[in-house]
Amino acid sequence: MNHPAIEIRALTKRYTNGGEALVALQSFDVTVEEGAFVAVVGPSGCGKSTLLKTLGGLQPYSEGSVAIRGEPVRGPRKDIGIVFQSPVLFPWRTVLQNVLLPAQILRLDPARHAAVARELLALVGLADFASRYPWELSGGMQQRAALARALVNDPTLLLMDEPFGALDAMTREHMNVELQRIWLERRKTVLLITHSIAEAVYLADRVLVMSPRPGRLIDDIRIDLPRPRGLEVMASPEFGAHVAHIRALFNLRGGVD
Ligand SMILES: Nc1ncnc2c1ncn2[C@@H]1O[C@H](COP(=O)(O)OP(=O)(O)O)[C@@H](O)[C@H]1O
Ligand SMILES: [Mg+2]
Repeated sequence: MNHPAIEIRALTKRYTNGGEALVALQSFDVTVEEGAFVAVVGPSGCGKSTLLKTLGGLQPYSEGSVAIRGEPVRGPRKDIGIVFQSPVLFPWRTVLQNVLLPAQILRLDPARHAAVARELLALVGLADFASRYPWELSGGMQQRAALARALVNDPTLLLMDEPFGALDAMTREHMNVELQRIWLERRKTVLLITHSIAEAVYLADRVLVMSPRPGRLIDDIRIDLPRPRGLEVMASPEFGAHVAHIRALFNLRGGVD
């Protein structure tokens, strides 16, 4: 049987801070098909990172169910890649050694994965930087190295938590174009959290809109702009209509971060 890439049912997550309970996610439901590119937008503190950490098996949840390809999430898995807002590269390792880290941790064949890592560095445009150190790279290049690292164990699901949030607008647009290209080439299922509505509409097949905390799904918008999408798509009426619709949802509910 073919299971969806992600199946979340009635997910509730409570954090307890010294006896005080904080509900981060409440009765969250979503199904994501294999190979889809899904973006998640929502106000600051609405539970986006909580959703991502739950999917990544990085923290427990309170109620409901979370399954990836039909298997309940109980902890970190080998078939997921995660990219965080800050690239967290180890300064004493070269770019290649950083990209190889998950393969080492998972005890995958070193020789084969060195070749895989070099291929991924070429894919993200860093072929000539394999033996450089992170501090020799710009922010955008570091984030591309982090993306290569997230792909090194050939995950079927890529989770990204505001990966381009720290980049300037021009670099960010360039990274969006690159990410689309890589996705079209590799066809992983992607869940991208972003606070940029334009980035979400530009990249995704579906944009999930969350309410302020406790986070619930308030809209699920299908974006069927043809691919590959050039940056000029952002000037099209369809693009503008999606952005305006999502912005109106936020204004109605009290702003986005
Ligand atoms: N480890 C934690 N312990 C307690 N509260 C937390 C923890 N992580 C997040 N929170 C709280 O849960 C809510 C959702 O956080 P988060 O998922 O990081 O939101 P977002 O990523 O949408 O900004 C926030 O109110 C935040 O303060
Ligand atoms: Mg967050």
